[in-house]
Amino acid sequence: MGHETGFDELIRDKWAGRAQAYAETFAGQCAHTVEPMLDALGLRPGTVLLDVGTGAGAVAVAALARGCEVVAVDPEPDMLALAAARAPGATVLPGALPDLRLEQRFDAIAANFVLNHVGEPLASVRCLAGLLRPGGRVAAAIWPAEPRPLQSLWTEVIDAAGAVRPPVAKLPPEHEFPRTPDGLAGLFEASGLDVERAWVHEFVHVVDAEIWWSGPARGVSSMGQLFEAQTPEVLLAMRSAYDRLSARYLGSDGLLHLPGAAVLAVAVR
Ligand SMILES: C[S@@+](CC[C@H](N)C(=O)[O-])C[C@H]1O[C@@H](n2cnc3c(N)ncnc32)[C@H](O)[C@@H]1O
Repeated sequence: MGHETGFDELIRDKWAGRAQAYAETFAGQCAHTVEPMLDALGLRPGTVLLDVGTGAGAVAVAALARGCEVVAVDPEPDMLALAAARAPGATVLPGALPDLRLEQRFDAIAANFVLNHVGEPLASVRCLAGLLRPGGRVAAAIWPAEPRPLQSLWTEVIDAAGAVRPPVAKLPPEHEFPRTPDGLAGLFEASGLDVERAWVHEFVHVVDAEIWWSGPARGVSSMGQLFEAQTPEVLLAMRSAYDRLSARYLGSDGLLHLPGAAVLAVAVR
C-alpha cells in the first residue's frame, strides 16, 4: 500500500481483532446514517455498490436488502470475516484507501465513517471517484467538528476522572479538512465530482448504558485505546463519572438517549 502513513497504522490498530466487540457496541452509532446514505445514492435493485471500509457489514447488509449487487472491502481481516458472515450475498475483499486496486467500476460507493479514519482523505476520495462509472454516485459520512453528547459524554468522563490522554493519531495539516458539510463537499469537488447534497444528519442514539460502556472497555476505537492507557484506579473513577454524567440521558425506558449528528455528502461523477 504505497500511501501508507503512520496515521493509518495507528488507526488500523484500533480495529484489529475487535470486529465482534465493534459490532455489538459502537457499530450502533454508525448505523444511523446507513439508510439516509443509501437513499441519497438512489439505489435500485441491480445497482452495483461498493461498501468501502465495510466493518461489520452494516451498509452491505442494507444494500443487499435493497436488491443491490455488493462488493465490500476493508483492510482489517477480522472485520472482513464478520462482514462475510453477516452479508453472505456480498463479495468481500481486502483493501485499503487510498490504494484500492479494483478492476470493477461501480454505480454507487458508500463510505460510512471511513474518511475520518484514513491518512489521506483527499487521495482516498480521488481513488473512489476513479472507481465510479460515469453517472455513478459516491456518498460518505463522518463525525462533525462540533461534538454532540454522543461524543462529548466521553470527554466529560475523561475530564472528571483526570484520565491521561494517550497520543492520538492526528492528520498532518496538509491532509486535514473541515469536518462540516462544506468541508466534506470540498473533498468531492476537488476530486472532480459534482456535489448533489451535503448536510448534517441529527439523530438520537438509544442504547443500554452497560453496552455503551462496554465498547471502549472492550478496546473499541480511540476511546478503547484511551481506556487501555489508564490505571485500574483511574478506570474506576471513570466508571463512577460515567454513571453520574450519563444519568441525565436516561429515559423512562431505562436506556440512554444520546443526541448525535453526522456530516454526510453525496456526489455524482
Ligand atoms: C468506524 S468503522 C465503520 C465501519 C462500517 N462502515 C460501519 O458503518 O459500521 C471504520 C472502518 O474503516 C476501516 N478502515 C480503516 N482504515 C481504512 C482504510 N484506509 N481504507 C478502508 N477502510 C479502512 C476499519 O477497518 C473499520 O472497519
